[in-house]
Amino acid sequence: MRLHPAFALLIALTTCVLARIQGVFPVYTIALESSEPVQTSLNTRDVPNNVDYRCGPKIGKCPVGTCCSGAGFCGTSKAHCRSPDCKIDYGHCDAHRSPYGPPTKEIARPHLGQVPFGPTQIRSCAIPGTVALTFDDGPTRYTGDLLDLLDKYDAKATFFVTGINNGKGAIDDLTLPWASVIERMHSSGHQVASHTWSHEDLSKVTPSQRSEQMEKNEAAIRNILGHFPSYMRPPYSSCTPDTECGKQLGELGYHIILYDIDTDDYKNDSPDLIQRSKDIFDHQVLQSDPLTKSWLVIAHDAHEQTVHNLTEHMLKAIKRLGYRAITVGDCLRDPRPLWYRKDTRMPTQKEKPKKPASADPNKAVSWDGSCGSNYTCLGSTFGFCCSSENACGNTSNHCGKGCRKDAGYCTVDVPGNGDAWDPRVDVKGSKSEAGAEIRMLGSAAMAAMTSLLLAFIVAMFM
Ligand SMILES: *[C@@H]1O[C@H](CO)[C@@H](O)[C@H](O)[C@H]1NC(C)=O
Ligand SMILES: *[C@@H]1O[C@H](CO)[C@@H](O)[C@H](O)[C@H]1NC(C)=O
Ligand SMILES: *[C@@H]1O[C@H](CO)[C@@H](O)[C@H](O)[C@H]1NC(C)=O
Ligand SMILES: [Zn+2]
Repeated sequence: MRLHPAFALLIALTTCVLARIQGVFPVYTIALESSEPVQTSLNTRDVPNNVDYRCGPKIGKCPVGTCCSGAGFCGTSKAHCRSPDCKIDYGHCDAHRSPYGPPTKEIARPHLGQVPFGPTQIRSCAIPGTVALTFDDGPTRYTGDLLDLLDKYDAKATFFVTGINNGKGAIDDLTLPWASVIERMHSSGHQVASHTWSHEDLSKVTPSQRSEQMEKNEAAIRNILGHFPSYMRPPYSSCTPDTECGKQLGELGYHIILYDIDTDDYKNDSPDLIQRSKDIFDHQVLQSDPLTKSWLVIAHDAHEQTVHNLTEHMLKAIKRLGYRAITVGDCLRDPRPLWYRKDTRMPTQKEKPKKPASADPNKAVSWDGSCGSNYTCLGSTFGFCCSSENACGNTSNHCGKGCRKDAGYCTVDVPGNGDAWDPRVDVKGSKSEAGAEIRMLGSAAMAAMTSLLLAFIVAMFM
C-alpha cells in the first residue's frame, strides 16, 4: 500500500504538533544577555508523565508537588523539575530544595580589602602578564578532566559553581560526585566562587528570591569547604541596577565578576565549531603584550569541547606568550582570606565525604529514623547524621556536637580554626606573583604591604 505524499505530510505535521504539545521537543529561547548558554528546556529521553496540565504566567500553578517545565507543562519528571528551566513561581522545582545545616543569613559580610563590592562590576584583572580563566555552571561530568588539564599546565583557574542546575542534583549531596570535585578545586589552589543556587536570572526574581539564590549556594559550599565565597558571577551576566540587583549583591558581600574575553564556548560546543572560540581568544590575546596586558576570560565547564579542546589551546597560548594563568582573586591582588567567609558554626569537614555505599556493611540502614549500634543513618531517608539522641537528621544538632560517627556522617572533630586560609598555598602564590610585581615596581610593594596587613587583620578574627 502506498501513502499519498500529502497524507504523509499531514501525519508528520500532526506528530510534530502533538509532540510539541506534550513538551517532548526541546524549546529554545533566545538569550538577550551575552555569554550564557541558553539552557534548553526538555530532554527528549525524559517523557513527561503528566501532560494534561499547562502552567505558567496567565495560566497558573501546577498541582501541589508537581513541577512547571520550561515549556509550561506540569509533571514530576527530571525534565520538568530541573532548574533553571523549571518555572519557580508556578510549581515545585529542583531549586526549591535547601542545603542542610544552618542558614548563612546571619553571618556578617564586612567589605574588607581594596577590591570593590557590588554594585560595581569587575571586568578585568589588575596584574599585567596574567590571565584569569573562569569556568561557569559546573561542576559537571567534565570538570574532573579540566582539573587534570589545569594540573598538567600548573595553571590556576576560578570556578563559578552552581548549586543545583541542569538536573545534576545538589552539590552538597554526598551521594553525588560534586562535593569531592569542589574539594579538589579548592585543594588544588583554584578559586571557588558562586554562580547562584539554581541559575535563575537575578534581574527577574524578587529580592527575597535573589538572596535565597545566594544564601542557599553559600550553605551548600559551606557544607563542603567550611566557608563560602565572596566572589560571584550573575547567571546570564544579568544583574541590572534597575532591579537593585547589584546593590543587593553588594549588601550580601559579593564582588561581581564579569570578563573581558567572552569565548562564546557554549555556542560552539562541537569539533567543527570550537575553532570559532579559539579564534576569539587568539584574536585578543596573541596580539597583546604580557608586560602591560592582562585578561579575564569566561568559559563553561559544562561543555565537552571547552574541556577537551578549547582550554588546552588557551593554556598553550598563555604559556607560549609568557602569561601566567592565575585565579581572579590573585589577579585582583585580593588576599586569599578575603575570597571566602567562614562559618564558624560548622567546622570544616576535613575527611572525604562518606558515601552511603561505603557505610558500615554490618549495619542496616535506619528505617524509622532511629540509629545507633545496629542502624546507620547513611542511606536513610531521614538525614545522614546520627545525633547523640540516636535520631537521624541533617541539622547541626544531628551532625555537630555529640554526633555518632559509628552510625552516620558527622561534621565534628575537626580543628576549629578551619582552612579558609591555607598558609602553604598563600606563600606559594605570593612567590609566583613576584615576577609580575617586579615589573610593577613601586606601587606593587605598597599593594603587597596592604595585602599582608589585611591578611593579618583577617587572621586575627579567624
Ligand atoms: C539530607 O541531606 C542529603 C544531602 O544533601 C540529602 O540527600 C537528603 O535528602 C537530606 N535528608 C533530609 C531528610 O533532609
Ligand atoms: C578540536 O578542535 C579542532 C578545531 O579547532 C577540531 O578540528 C578537532 O577535531 C577538535 N578535536 C576534538 C578531539 O574534538
Ligand atoms: C543490636 O543487635 C544485637 C544483636 O542482634 C542485640 O543483642 C542488641 O540488643 C541490639 N541493640 C539495640 C540497641 O537494639
Ligand atoms: Zn551560567
